[in-house]
Amino acid sequence: ADNAADRAADTANKITRVGVIGAGQMGAGIAEVCARAQVDVLVWEKTREATAAGRARILKSLDRGVSSGKITEREREQAALRLRFTTEIADFADRQLVTEAVVEDEAVKVELFRELDEVVTDPNAVLASNTSSIPIMKLGMVTQNPQRVIGLHFFNPVPVLPLVELITTLETSSAVTERAEKFAAEILGKQVVRSADRSGFVVNALLVPYLLSAIRMAESGFATVEDIDQAMVLGCAHPMGPLTLTDLVGLDTVKAIADSMYGEFKEPMYSPPPMLLRMVEAGRIGKKAGHGFYRYD
Ligand code: CAA
Ligand code: NAD
Repeated sequence: ADNAADRAADTANKITRVGVIGAGQMGAGIAEVCARAQVDVLVWEKTREATAAGRARILKSLDRGVSSGKITEREREQAALRLRFTTEIADFADRQLVTEAVVEDEAVKVELFRELDEVVTDPNAVLASNTSSIPIMKLGMVTQNPQRVIGLHFFNPVPVLPLVELITTLETSSAVTERAEKFAAEILGKQVVRSADRSGFVVNALLVPYLLSAIRMAESGFATVEDIDQAMVLGCAHPMGPLTLTDLVGLDTVKAIADSMYGEFKEPMYSPPPMLLRMVEAGRIGKKAGHGFYRYD
């Protein structure tokens, strides 16, 4: 009887209805891996045009999954059927876990968490952020219920990279932590590492100073963009060089992460170099804009 009761509790607790806010590079990737893991996914974008672009991004990546033999045609069709799109945050009322992947801007995320907190009715729901660097406590404290706020940080490209960083705040409940960790590990099949709630968490606190150093190196004429990238690919077996990786992440996002870490630690190594600032001002924000350190068709 105990086992049956446990099973019933587990089923009731199991996350089957997820929300993803934002369908840019990261939101689309998170929505895709959720849909592939048989979860019902509701995806928000700002406008109908943006939802169409987000949907196209997800379908293109699912197609890539089929052509590389990772999923079958049937799995692609089923994943596509589990995805729905909206432009209304109010539609997230029945979600058991919502994760946001909007622009790396504290003011935007704060406003969103205020709204989500009012909309999502389940007191045990998980309200997660995919922020690269903003301390989660800043998002938790604008809600009435900071126990349900947590960091779930995925890596780009989400369907390929196995890591999720789990960030709990001083206020996150252990029940929400356990639910979020189980979701990432057991439902999505990701590997979880935990990080303290410090700007940049584990990966970006180590990675971003390296990317900024590469930009400073290019800026000073120490070596060319191409040679810096070649050197790290051929000399350290990295899958891509630091300037190609900056283009992949997005220069706007790298700058925002640097600003956030510099604000927290005041260490020069986190401060965004002028070349990065000028390129962001020029709109050369990387692969997603077709132009960064390199050009993309
Ligand atoms: N969606 C689905 N699958 C994808 C994909 C995508 N967007 N991109 C690549 N893949 C798959 C391909 O289908 C391919 O699969 P198979 O080997 O099974 O055929 C595999 O990944 C390799 O892809 P490619 O052969 O096309 O290209 P590649 O070998 O150059 O790999 C890469 C591309 C996966 C992006 C690789 O270069 C890489 O891992 N780069 C480093 C990325 C990285 O460091 N990311 C972390 C950024 S930091 C971050 O995310 C945190 C933050 O907060 C900023
Ligand atoms: P992106 O530029 O591809 O997408 C940005 C998203 O934010 C879009 O959905 C857009 O509609 C939305 N948005 C923009 N301005 C907005 C506003 N004012 N109000 C509400 N929504 C707005 O960015 P991305 O690379 O998907 O990054 C999204 C989040 O994920 C950021 O917090 C970023 O730090 C984090 N992240 C990025 C990476 C990466 O490699 N790019 C990796 C891990 C985490």
